[in-house]
Amino acid sequence: MSGAQPKAAKIAGLISVIAEVNPKALQTRYSQGWVDEVISDMDKLISRVKKARELNETVSLAFQGNIVDLWEKFADHDIRVDIGSDQTSLHNPWAGGYYPAGLSFDEANRMISDDPEKFKSHVRKSLIRQVEAINRHTKKGTYFFDYGNAFLLEASRAGADILKPDGEFRYPSYVQDIMGPLCFDYGFGPFRWVCCSNNPADLAVTDVIAASTLEKIMKGAPEKIRQQLEDNIHWIKEAGKNKLVVGSQARILYADAEGRIAIADAFNQAVAKGKLRAPVVIGRDHHDVSGTDSPYRETSNIYDGSRFTADMAVQNVIGDSFRGATWVSLHNGGGVGWGEVINGGFGMVLDGLESTGEKLRMMLHWDVNNGIARRSWARNDGAMFAIEREMKKTPELIVTMPFIADDKLIDDVI
Ligand SMILES: NC(=O)c1ccc[n+]([C@@H]2O[C@H](COP(=O)([O-])OP(=O)(O)OC[C@H]3O[C@@H](n4cnc5c(N)ncnc54)[C@H](O)[C@@H]3O)[C@@H](O)[C@H]2O)c1
Repeated sequence: MSGAQPKAAKIAGLISVIAEVNPKALQTRYSQGWVDEVISDMDKLISRVKKARELNETVSLAFQGNIVDLWEKFADHDIRVDIGSDQTSLHNPWAGGYYPAGLSFDEANRMISDDPEKFKSHVRKSLIRQVEAINRHTKKGTYFFDYGNAFLLEASRAGADILKPDGEFRYPSYVQDIMGPLCFDYGFGPFRWVCCSNNPADLAVTDVIAASTLEKIMKGAPEKIRQQLEDNIHWIKEAGKNKLVVGSQARILYADAEGRIAIADAFNQAVAKGKLRAPVVIGRDHHDVSGTDSPYRETSNIYDGSRFTADMAVQNVIGDSFRGATWVSLHNGGGVGWGEVINGGFGMVLDGLESTGEKLRMMLHWDVNNGIARRSWARNDGAMFAIEREMKKTPELIVTMPFIADDKLIDDVI
């Protein structure tokens, strides 16, 4: 388990339950404060959830055991789940990314090396069971979504009841339903930075700079992106209190090109003026607006057929390198599985030089708008809005707009 989900649920004021089959992984997250309580007995867990509901608590619970058992038992005991997903590492199903129900953690690990074919068969059967249990919940109103871990893909390959009659998945990927239309199409994506001084005081200074920069942008922001800005202003103001740093003094927030450029520029100036003790490195997750071609995740809300191409990540990386990225990377598989996705990434060192200011403006502008153009060509509403807005701000940017055909006319012609 990663600790992000229980922590996010806590910040959002929910009761969350996460299953983790590996006791060591669970204890690590618990000792680091990412989850409030660990319970390994199913009956105790069920009573604890009921009590939390009655008392209207905000609490994160971790079940030490298999996720399949959890879905099944919650369905048997009529425990209502409002929102659910799966976060096993199914991009790597045969080598420890997914532990099948019915085997202990140690048994599974032995079988992976001693009898890989038998292990595969256990994984497939377990996925079929898991989907059956999830379907029971969704019939009662649970909103289930694919977390971007290839759950829908691997469950369909295992023969689980996960497809609609038209061959599409029964459930959406979170990019199709949430992140794509709300964030990526408008250029909002995970902008990251690391303070090279590794000094917590520097991170605190960057938090203040980022919050005040977004607040300034908020004043002139159009209605369509105010919610995204508000969420991120709230997040960055609260981030320090939530003690989320485990290693490097690093932070992440969602911003569009305007926000990323303004924040990076302000960091660069703070380095130049000595307000930060050392340079800051900026980057982003590959899970972003541009940078990644991934038909089952990042580009899954591109519906014009082009989501099965793999050119955007390459264009992004080449464009970033020409504009001054300190390093770029082009890789494969990121979080979705080998051969399923092409990822492009960059890093840039903000050393306080004036020339760095010039480079960061050029590079971040390309890094984000390349993806918005692609999404606009696919006729995504948010992206058409965002790229037209950008062309007004930057007259030298010329992106062809799609022609929106009249569906009735096309139907008549066909
Ligand atoms: N949507 C996103 O933004 C996003 C972000 C990060 C990761 N992901 C994807 O989510 C998946 C998980 O990422 P992670 O970093 O948490 O990986 P991880 O490998 O650290 O954690 C997965 C955990 O699942 C546990 N597990 C496996 N099968 C289980 C089962 N049947 N029952 C209970 N526990 C089980 C494993 O023991 C492991 O600790 C990956 O496929 C990753 O690509 C998506």
